[in-house]
Amino acid sequence: MRRAAPISARKAAPIAPPLRILSPKRNKLLQTGWEGFFPYYAGFPEVFARELLQSAELPRGAVILDPWNGSGTTTYAASGLGLSSIGIDLNPVMIIVARARLLPPTEADHLKPLAATILAHAYSSQPILDSNDALLGWFEPSTAAFIRGVEQNIRRSLVGNMAKSPDGIHLDKISGTAATLYVALFATCRKLVAPFRSSNPTWLRVPKETDARVAATKATVAQYFAANVRDMSAALAAKLDADLRIANPPRAGQCKINLSDTVSMKLRKSSIDFVLTSPPYCTRIDYTAATRIELAVLAPLLTVGARALGKQMIGSTQVPSASIEVDESWGKTCARFLKKLRKHPSKASSGYYYRTHLDYFHKMSRSIERMSHALKVGGHAILVIQDSYYKDLHNDLPRIITEIGVEHGLSIERRKNFHLRSMSDINPGRRSYVRPSGATESVLCFVK
Ligand SMILES: C[S@@+](CC[C@H](N)C(=O)[O-])C[C@H]1O[C@@H](n2cnc3c(N)ncnc32)[C@H](O)[C@@H]1O
Repeated sequence: MRRAAPISARKAAPIAPPLRILSPKRNKLLQTGWEGFFPYYAGFPEVFARELLQSAELPRGAVILDPWNGSGTTTYAASGLGLSSIGIDLNPVMIIVARARLLPPTEADHLKPLAATILAHAYSSQPILDSNDALLGWFEPSTAAFIRGVEQNIRRSLVGNMAKSPDGIHLDKISGTAATLYVALFATCRKLVAPFRSSNPTWLRVPKETDARVAATKATVAQYFAANVRDMSAALAAKLDADLRIANPPRAGQCKINLSDTVSMKLRKSSIDFVLTSPPYCTRIDYTAATRIELAVLAPLLTVGARALGKQMIGSTQVPSASIEVDESWGKTCARFLKKLRKHPSKASSGYYYRTHLDYFHKMSRSIERMSHALKVGGHAILVIQDSYYKDLHNDLPRIITEIGVEHGLSIERRKNFHLRSMSDINPGRRSYVRPSGATESVLCFVK
């Protein structure tokens, strides 16, 4: 009879390394140099993504997915570590931003001469401004015409044939250089419309009176744009210097940035090794409203209007067209929360708010199902989720998402909580209900 090998001699199953989880709280102090050009109020810091991915000790050839990639923090961190990645987002602005962020530092020298040529063409051409041009919401006609001229010249000189098709321009195929110049133009417009901003980072007012619109000379617009490009080029050059000082830096990982809706995303079964993401919050934040001015700049490249896009977003503030029923796959916590919300005595709770919340959970559950389908068995999915309040009702989103994940074949391995100031602290109008201040941001570690 064969005797069992002593425990010390048995082949031990590989132990997964512990994941390093820093605070996912956005920190302006961490956004310096090249990072500083991609601030996103909804983003997590690059160091959070980098440390986490590094600690996962993924094998060569592993593919990382961020289904709600936003400003592209995950794809940027993965690329820096030499890992392949796929970033998905429904907002065309975020596709441009995430692509620009990946511009190789060796391109630093090209940016300034390109910007100078684009400005020279914009000065010498007379763009015909459509009377419905979205830029007219904030800028008086001659300012809007010059900005459109700059945009047209970026499009004509840098958006190549690969990105063009009979059904429009594929934003996910435009070059990193074109994307970077678009980001410089976004920043120019943001600076010009600063008087219409409020303390709420998601809100940009459209002036009611046309004579309140911004009037800036061509020289001012050109100066802001050139300064942005100069600063971006310098930051990129500094990054190149820093990279050169590292012995054997990894080659940048391959990255695909896709414009698509996670509710219907098509990823091959078991094609993903690791997911790192932060889904849209359930705090009635309109993700497209936060990028209104950028969407106005990009309008000629888009096939869908800002309103229709806003409706498609997870967390949309628009009432869904179809009727949605509570689904068992959303779990018990969600069902209890929705029941209380529907019965809440405050105005529109049983109507508008109930329906927009149904829309949120419906889209989230579908998306998590697709994400789980794409994840390999044994693969991790790390989701950063914030809880919130509807009036005085606690929306324990981390717990709800945990239950939805379990329903779609994931197990929860660990949850780490961080306390933050929340968006509702910024909006004093919502303080009429008794509830704790701040919010809890949870890092949920699932395994399939
Ligand atoms: C919390 S943000 C992600 C921020 C990101 N982690 C970063 O560092 O910038 C959520 C993102 O989900 C995107 N989003 C909302 N609904 C979506 C949908 N149905 N499909 C794909 N992306 C969507 C929003 O445009 C937003 O950029």
